[in-house]
Amino acid sequence: MVKDKKTIWQDKEYMVLILDLLQHEKVQKMKQFRQHYQINCFDHCLFVSYNTYLICKKLKLDYIAAARAGMLHDLFLYDWRKRENGRKGHHAFTHGKTACEQALTFLDLNDKEKDIIVKHMWPVTLALPKYKETFILSFVDKYFAIAEAFIKNIELEKENFII
Ligand SMILES: [Fe+2]
Ligand SMILES: [Fe+2]
Repeated sequence: MVKDKKTIWQDKEYMVLILDLLQHEKVQKMKQFRQHYQINCFDHCLFVSYNTYLICKKLKLDYIAAARAGMLHDLFLYDWRKRENGRKGHHAFTHGKTACEQALTFLDLNDKEKDIIVKHMWPVTLALPKYKETFILSFVDKYFAIAEAFIKNIELEKENFII
């Protein structure tokens, strides 16, 4: 698994697939929310997106949907450690749907992208993924939930964000 942001920024073939997403203010806003350990939601989504993209590409699956949905899969935009703004339900069960709703406020998603985002917590959420890409992302996501304990947070965005 690639855990180095510099490698990801330098992969232009991948970056062009998600560039429009990265430029959106809601996606940028994920930097304000801590996901696991020192990693914010934006970087977590980037790691999950990139590694799911690489695996899907190798397996000749839909790596574009994997890259794009991966970047959006945790676009829930709140601090999951706090219960604010009347948020209901348990974060683990609801945030996939919330992320999908947030993404749909500024772009269209195809059926596969929606499945990947909404069901990425499988098997915690019981609804069975419809696509192989969703299964792959759900495993990559769980891997990074653990691996992020060992990733040093590095700020690279500004100077490396050049396509
Ligand atoms: Fe998640
Ligand atoms: Fe995640």
